[in-house]
Amino acid sequence: MALLNENYLKLPGSYLFAEIARRINVFKGDNPEANIIRLGIGDVTRPLPPAVITAMHKAVDEMGQAATFRGYGPEQGYGFLIQKVIENDYTSRGIALGEDEVFISDGAKSDVGNIQEIFAVANTVAITDPVYPVYLDTNVMAGRTGELGGDGKFTGITYLPCNAENKFTPALPNTKVDIIYLCVPNNPTGTALSKTELKKWVDYAKKSGAVILYDSAYEAYITESDIPHSIYEIEGAKEVAIEFRSFSKTAGFTGTRCAYTVVPKTVMAVTADGTPHQLNKLWNRRQTTKFNGTPYIIQRGAEAVYSPEGKQQVKAVVDYYMANAKIIREGLISLGLEVYGGVNAPYIWLKTPNNLDSWDFFDKLLGETHIVGTPGTGFGPSGAGYFRLTAFGNRESTEEAIIRIKTRLKI
Ligand SMILES: Cc1ncc(COP(=O)(O)O)c(C=O)c1O
Repeated sequence: MALLNENYLKLPGSYLFAEIARRINVFKGDNPEANIIRLGIGDVTRPLPPAVITAMHKAVDEMGQAATFRGYGPEQGYGFLIQKVIENDYTSRGIALGEDEVFISDGAKSDVGNIQEIFAVANTVAITDPVYPVYLDTNVMAGRTGELGGDGKFTGITYLPCNAENKFTPALPNTKVDIIYLCVPNNPTGTALSKTELKKWVDYAKKSGAVILYDSAYEAYITESDIPHSIYEIEGAKEVAIEFRSFSKTAGFTGTRCAYTVVPKTVMAVTADGTPHQLNKLWNRRQTTKFNGTPYIIQRGAEAVYSPEGKQQVKAVVDYYMANAKIIREGLISLGLEVYGGVNAPYIWLKTPNNLDSWDFFDKLLGETHIVGTPGTGFGPSGAGYFRLTAFGNRESTEEAIIRIKTRLKI
């Protein structure tokens, strides 16, 4: 018999969404007439911008003509898109990158999940808690952890708690770590690290030889001037950080799939004998071996995000979601609730009233207002007593949700 990778067995089933679905079904069974509003979704709802659609249509037509047909493209992405990324997202902010330092992909989820393959299993990993689960689960699968304990934590992982007490700013670890995942702006807490805070991490990584894996999938939602749009705005970061970005939440590509990862050639890791190697070379090797490129049509669509019309249309979509975030945020604050996020991210993270358990608050919100959100415990042990709402719904249901919370929620 073939032996399986037993690390997979350490992972609990995807309990969170299964349990949410189960509770909704029970509720629907008892209340068949209820009009449920879902403020738990992490997916976008606005359509792709017209500039993207036009570019994709044109690319589809090209694919139908022998003279312009494209087969396999470069695994790292087409130059036309890489150049637009560098020019608009980096050069404009004073960051110099080479074309071979940007890798176009089919999503930040695959990239943040796959990146750990180029690091030794022996590395120690730090994650913020609560966390986007992909960072943790992929390291469990790779065997960088022990078992899941009764406290909801895997042994072998350094958890960096983020809560109201530390203003969702993780403290530097007091034991040595080699790989640090940071997500700014953050899913699920909706909070962000300032340049000053991020500099502490870059300095730590430089001093200790750690690598920062910086997930910036929500960069487009930053509104405050002291929040960096790229980790490379911080001096020294090009020696220690890999950055992940996505067109998913920026331009509605969740179903279309396009993202990119920046691996500067100056980011190094060492072999057991201490010899340094460029991580860029390893990631290039990994991608050219296991990935055959993002479709041409999709990359042409992503390129259009950077056209003058595309930029305007994307901004309108981001503004739309952020107006929802404001409605949710201000509505909850007016009730005296403790609310975080929603300023630099489309996520609102609230402290459950009266110290309710996250799941008890889920049931209360669903029962009294017919609104679904996500219990904070689903993102890690430090999410206990918190709850996530998202701004990705449509305006009408977001407004209706806040009216219901104001008029029906008993707090
Ligand atoms: C923090 C974070 N990173 C990455 C992703 C995935 O992005 P993509 O759609 O590009 O795979 C998500 C999606 O929810 C996310 O919240």
